Amino acid sequence: MPRAAGLSLPIEIDRDSAMPLPDQLVAEFRRLISTGVLHPDEPVPSSRRMSAHLGISRGTVETAYAQLGVEGYLVSRERSATRVNPDLPTALGESSRRRPPPTPPRRPARDVIDLRPGFGGDNPLREPAFRRAWRDSLDTDPGPIDPLGQPGARWAIAEHLRLLRGTKVDPEDIILTSGSRDGVRLLFTAGLDGAIGIENPGFPGLRQAMTDRRLVPFDVSAGLDEAELERIGPLVSAVVVTPNHQFPHGTTLPVDRRVRLLGWAAENDVLVIEDDYDSEARYRRTVVPTLYDLAVALGIGAQVVHVGTFSTLLTSAVSTGYLIAHGPIGRRLADTRTALGPAFSPVMQTALASYLGSGGLRRRISRGRRRLRAAEAVLAEVGPIRGLVHEGRTLVIETDEAEAGRLRTELAAKGILVASLAAGWSGDSDVRHGIVLAHSNAEAPVLRRALRTVQELTGQAAD
Ligand SMILES: Cc1ncc(COP(=O)(O)O)c(C=O)c1O
Repeated sequence: MPRAAGLSLPIEIDRDSAMPLPDQLVAEFRRLISTGVLHPDEPVPSSRRMSAHLGISRGTVETAYAQLGVEGYLVSRERSATRVNPDLPTALGESSRRRPPPTPPRRPARDVIDLRPGFGGDNPLREPAFRRAWRDSLDTDPGPIDPLGQPGARWAIAEHLRLLRGTKVDPEDIILTSGSRDGVRLLFTAGLDGAIGIENPGFPGLRQAMTDRRLVPFDVSAGLDEAELERIGPLVSAVVVTPNHQFPHGTTLPVDRRVRLLGWAAENDVLVIEDDYDSEARYRRTVVPTLYDLAVALGIGAQVVHVGTFSTLLTSAVSTGYLIAHGPIGRRLADTRTALGPAFSPVMQTALASYLGSGGLRRRISRGRRRLRAAEAVLAEVGPIRGLVHEGRTLVIETDEAEAGRLRTELAAKGILVASLAAGWSGDSDVRHGIVLAHSNAEAPVLRRALRTVQELTGQAAD
């Protein structure tokens, strides 16, 4: 039931006016209702509270409410609060009839298995280490607010990258963002213009974050293709690449091809935006240096901005990420971030620093690796799945277009959420259809159930 509109309602009473007080109150309520400040069916304060609040007699308020009742603005029923007539149309149209959104459940529905890449997984917000870090941050004075990120958080991220990614980063070159997409958008705000080369297929979220740009897709369906790079070289001012975990197959670009990519970027004066998605997790044995490090180490004159995110290692609910840049572009990004203010709450930044510092994320990543190994074992155990292409951390099941739609709908009806393969493609040509699953999102027994369901629905039921 909606609560009574607050006593802080903007009602003005003028004691010096020639207009009687009840009439003034009536006029004020008419205005508030007709301008949509008060919504249909919203309770209004009782005459007793209203009179105390405005410092007028209760009788005055009762007279005004009675008049508003006669006019059809208010309705009152025995033993219930006087409220705005629920049958009134809202002044600002249906959309302004704001109801508070339903309160989210304290725990996500147990029966939903979310296998979409970038979603699901176990919720870190319930982890004791994360909760401790969060509580500690509330007791910590964050100190002066640094729009680039609190020094403790930037230092903790540099340490995290050193120990888990094997890359040495100066904390001064780190700028906090609310995720990879935010990092890319910051570049645009900082003045990056011209067309942007994007991988095709690629992570749809990144493409959607750039719809106001001229995008030049380049084919990476069989890996990064140098002929494609030559084609787009003269056309773009920047490229966004995911050399560590290319969507959807999760392929990693080997070091020799990274060096060639950087050479091409230097030659064509193209800024490389490196989305190093999922790299610290090191789900593979090999660790390939970042483009950012390689460009510096080998003295290749390519400009690289490195974007990273905690949205998958942690959860998108914490909206935390970072970018790494130096030189003139780093200064431009820092100026822009300074003008905009912090990317996310300094309280959260302190919590993140403390969580990273306590080894919470490192332990979480180890659990993730164990879970991936268990998921691989389940995959081997359930047997063949028609159309399965499996390379990295995702399972891609290729189908035709109609079957992809049917599969996603039928799986969703059984509480299993998967991503669309086609969503990774820019444009309509050469689009491949099917579904994409991040199998390590689920614990073995749940994954087993989900994969058996996929087998049933694709006509490949296990014996
Ligand atoms: C390649 C890639 N980059 C970035 C992200 C995450 O982006 P953000 O940090 O903006 O949520 C994902 C999520 O699945 C991804 O697949």
